[in-house]
Amino acid sequence: MGEAMRHHWLLLGACGWVLLILMFVTKFMSFRAIDDYGERAGGQSWTVPGTKLVKPNPASRLEKPATRTALNPSDQPSAAPSVADWQSVAERRVELLSSVCKNSSLRNLTHVSISKFVLDRVFVCDKHKILFCQTPKVGNTQWKKVLIVLNGAFPTVEEIPESLVHDHEKNGLPRLSSFKPQEITHRLSTYFKFFIVRDPFERLISAFKDKFVKNPRFEPWYKHDIAPAIIRKYRKSHRESDSAASGLHFEDFVRYLGDVDGRHRIDRQFGEHIIHWVTYADLCAPCEIHYSAVGHHETLEQDAPYILSAAGIDQLVSYPAIPPGITRYNRTKVEQYFSGISKRDIRRLYARYQGDFRLFGYPSPDFLLN
Ligand SMILES: *[C@@H]1O[C@H](CO)[C@@H](O)[C@H](O)[C@H]1NC(C)=O
Ligand SMILES: *[C@@H]1O[C@H](CO)[C@@H](O)[C@H](O)[C@H]1NC(C)=O
Ligand SMILES: *[C@@H]1O[C@H](CO)[C@@H](O)[C@H](O)[C@H]1NC(C)=O
Repeated sequence: MGEAMRHHWLLLGACGWVLLILMFVTKFMSFRAIDDYGERAGGQSWTVPGTKLVKPNPASRLEKPATRTALNPSDQPSAAPSVADWQSVAERRVELLSSVCKNSSLRNLTHVSISKFVLDRVFVCDKHKILFCQTPKVGNTQWKKVLIVLNGAFPTVEEIPESLVHDHEKNGLPRLSSFKPQEITHRLSTYFKFFIVRDPFERLISAFKDKFVKNPRFEPWYKHDIAPAIIRKYRKSHRESDSAASGLHFEDFVRYLGDVDGRHRIDRQFGEHIIHWVTYADLCAPCEIHYSAVGHHETLEQDAPYILSAAGIDQLVSYPAIPPGITRYNRTKVEQYFSGISKRDIRRLYARYQGDFRLFGYPSPDFLLN
């Protein structure tokens, strides 16, 4: 009897140890996962392997308070708001957008025509009457996957081959430009329309890192064609040792982007690749197209469920978990990137991107300008 009891306790003790070790290991593993994710935060693809994007049972989704990201101080409440609370934030953004569109002194920066370039950016989900304007570097791949599944070409997100996500001839997610003028007008005036933005300068840093430094998608034209063209035109010193071999510097990039008149000609040479750095106004024509919602990357945890709900698809899909911290605005990083760059060049850059700052309510980066 006593012996059996002792065995019992020993077994219990052993179980306790195993549990403790397991807890430690899981903690360590999830920490690693965030780390890896953070590595890719600069890129636009956020696919976390095994994340189930489309859930058959989304009922519990809305209440999920989960781990909240510490937020940008600008316009976000500190407690986790519900989808209903977030609606007023989202509505204020749309109101701000429309009032800034009316400001005539910003007209040049905010108004663009609904050209083929813009219609190429907009993806169509006819089944649920949704239009999505693609803006790189804010987790767009996930939204595209959601819409591809909703359109019915694939049953789940996992079954979409990576090679097809961006192949709009085959993935069942057509561009708005592929429709007839009348069909385009109809969709623009009746569908739910949205896109996602982030702090304009942080976005440029992200584009620079992703295309000219890391280039993880093996797109050689950024380093081999576009960078040398920018360097030739915008690098101050043309010494041999300092030339293209060292790669594009952020300073060259900033001078190019801020050169309102000069960049048009070279932008045309670069074709569609400029989508990574032209203004959101140029990409999505937000003053001409009356968008229903504009999500912010910095508050994606609130915006993603809000948008799904406002678009009427929250019962069908959910956005994958966003690891805490990765969408947060990082002022230190912005300061570092701009630290060696002249005020004059930064002010010119701001002059070019001011429309985006104002339209979407991002505070002007006074810490860089003054
Ligand atoms: C319009 O924009 C200009 C330039 O940024 C600004 O000075 C002005 O206050 C704005 N006007 C209104 C009505 O917001
Ligand atoms: C807007 O653009 C026009 C034509 O390019 C130019 O003449 C005008 O000075 C610009 N206005 C502002 C406020 O930049
Ligand atoms: C912000 O950026 C700096 C510099 O790139 C980096 O060292 C730091 O870890 C970042 N902070 C956060 C919270 O990601």
